[in-house]
Amino acid sequence: MKISVIGTGYVGLVSGVCFTQMGNSVICVDINEKKIKNLKQGIIPIYEPGLEELTLQNYKNQTLHFTTIVVDKSTIQAELDKRGLDIKFDVVSNPEFLKEGAAINDFMHPDRVVVGADVNQVRNGIGSDNRIGYSFIYPGCGFGEKLDGKTFAVWGLNFKPEADDMREASAITIINELTSRGAKVIAYDPKARDEKIA
Ligand SMILES: NC(=O)c1ccc[n+]([C@@H]2O[C@H](COP(=O)([O-])OP(=O)(O)OC[C@H]3O[C@@H](n4cnc5c(N)ncnc54)[C@H](O)[C@@H]3O)[C@@H](O)[C@H]2O)c1
Repeated sequence: MKISVIGTGYVGLVSGVCFTQMGNSVICVDINEKKIKNLKQGIIPIYEPGLEELTLQNYKNQTLHFTTIVVDKSTIQAELDKRGLDIKFDVVSNPEFLKEGAAINDFMHPDRVVVGADVNQVRNGIGSDNRIGYSFIYPGCGFGEKLDGKTFAVWGLNFKPEADDMREASAITIINELTSRGAKVIAYDPKARDEKIA
């Protein structure tokens, strides 16, 4: 895989280096020009056991690259549209729980790794880590798609489970947003009170 890591601090540098160690090709980008210049010369900005050795080794192998970045605040899809490109990409959010001082070991030997697209399975996997727990992991909406001609099913409309109250329910905001972008919405909740939307 080709991976870009934005920010080469405690988290980004360790992650980038470990990803190369796993056989990926990684570009580490940072806004700090001095840091990038130093890294290219083998000067590591932080101490983590094993980090210097792995950084130098993978940089020498040319699987690890360092560069500065120009931040583009366009949304990715809008930017690709503007450039007339249709590139498939994944956006991964990886909650970080590395312990400084043991970061390489934590990364290379994680307590658990969750891979999957079924959000309920992901929630079970992540929630079983008792540093996180189950209570707060409920998915929000995705973003960035053109919605014309698409139909969305929305299940669960109340403002929270085991209630029937629709006041300020986030489902209303979401449904209004979906329909305003051209989507058709079929919504269902066995308990929700009648509520006029839009
Ligand atoms: N350090 C930890 O143990 C730890 C653990 C869990 C989560 N986090 C979170 O991870 C994130 C990074 O933490 P860290 O400890 O690695 O921080 P850090 O300060 O060591 O590194 C951040 C890096 O990002 C760079 N940066 C800042 N703005 C940038 C931009 N616009 N474009 C490119 N690079 C940019 C900085 O120059 C710096 O090198 C933070 O949100 C932190 O809260 C850190």
